[in-house]
This record gives sequence, C-alpha cells and structure tokens, in this order.
Amino acid sequence: MSMRRRTLLKVIVLGDSGVGKTALMNQYVHKKFSQQYKATIGADFVTKELQIDDKLVTLQVWDTAGQERFQSLGVAFYRGADCCVLVYDVNVMRSFDTLENWHEEFLKQANPSDPATFPFILLGNKIDIDGGNSRVVSEKKAKEWCISKGNIPYFETSAKEDYNVDAAFLCIAKTALSNE
Ligand code: GTP
Ligand code: MG
Repeated sequence: MSMRRRTLLKVIVLGDSGVGKTALMNQYVHKKFSQQYKATIGADFVTKELQIDDKLVTLQVWDTAGQERFQSLGVAFYRGADCCVLVYDVNVMRSFDTLENWHEEFLKQANPSDPATFPFILLGNKIDIDGGNSRVVSEKKAKEWCISKGNIPYFETSAKEDYNVDAAFLCIAKTALSNE
C-alpha cells in the first residue's frame, strides 16, 4: 500500500505596491479578478491543495503589503519559508529596480541556511496592458536579472487575463517542494 504524505509549503509573495500580488493570488485560488485596487495591510495567506507527482501538497501563500506604511512583518514571519515569489509590473521601471531590495531584504529576514540556493521565482505581471505596448522592462532584461540571482525561474503573467498564472504557481509549488 502506498503512503500519502501531506506537505505544507510556505510561500511568501513580495514586491512593490500595485504590481498585482493580491490579484495574482485571487486569480490562482478563486479564479476572480477585480479592477479595483485595495491595498493589502499587513499580511494574509490563502491555501490551495494540489497534487504533485505522488504528493498531496498544501500551498500556503502569504500575500504581503507593498506599501511601506502597511508593512508590519516581524522576522518570525519569514522564518520557515520554502519559496519567495518576487513580483514586478512590466510597465513600471521602479517596480523592477526595487526587486534588488526585496530580494536582499528577504534573505536578511528569513536568514536561510544556504542563501545562495534558496528558491526564488520572479513574476513579471500586467503583460496585458496596452497589448504589451506600454511595457518598459523587456523579457531579456528580466531574464538577465534572474540569471544574476542564480538562475531563478521567470514567468510573465496577467492576473487580469489569467495568463500563465497556473503555470507560475505550479512552478512555485515545485520549487518550494524541492526546498522542503
Ligand atoms: P499592495 O497590496 O499595495 O502591495 O498591491 P498589490 O501588489 O497587491 O496589487 P493589487 O493586486 O492590489 O493590484 C493593483 C491594481 O492593479 C489593481 O487595480 C488590479 O486590478 C490591477 N492589476 C493587477 N494585476 C493586473 C494585471 O495583470 N493586469 C491589469 N491590467 N491590471 C492588474
Ligand atoms: Mg495586495
């Protein structure tokens, strides 16, 4: 008889305010999208069960506040994370430039045993806007950044159009599982 093992994976989503962290999670978990912006305050999580090979996995995804005044996360919050998802908006250069800070801050807070191999994943969101004509960060530039950070996986997404959202989160789950 085969044994089923249930695994809880803790994933933390970080990135500037307004890049679409909450929208991506809502699309993934509830298949819903809202045009309206409502800032996340503090942090909150959603869970989703999924089957990966022979494992039943519970993905616990922590949505965080991009706005500085709503950030109130202690070091304990980051501890035990299995994967960190960084999100930027392909139409906003600043949200790409600050990835460096989010990446560094995460490593400082989470303090993983091996920072060089800790699993990150990058999502370039809102690729639907203006049919891609208003994007200011090229795919090439984003991929170069990923390579410079130890070859982290990169996905271009649209929470609005539900483009690549499932694929990105499946990769997130697999990446987190590999760190478990
Ligand atoms: P904070 O909670 O402040 O950190 O922001 P956030 O990163 O959670 O952003 P949120 O998900 O609230 O999205 C911000 C705004 O962008 C909202 O008005 C969303 O409707 C919109 N939005 C999010 N994702 C997309 C997308 O893929 N395409 C388009 N066109 N709009 C999006
Ligand atoms: Mg939010």
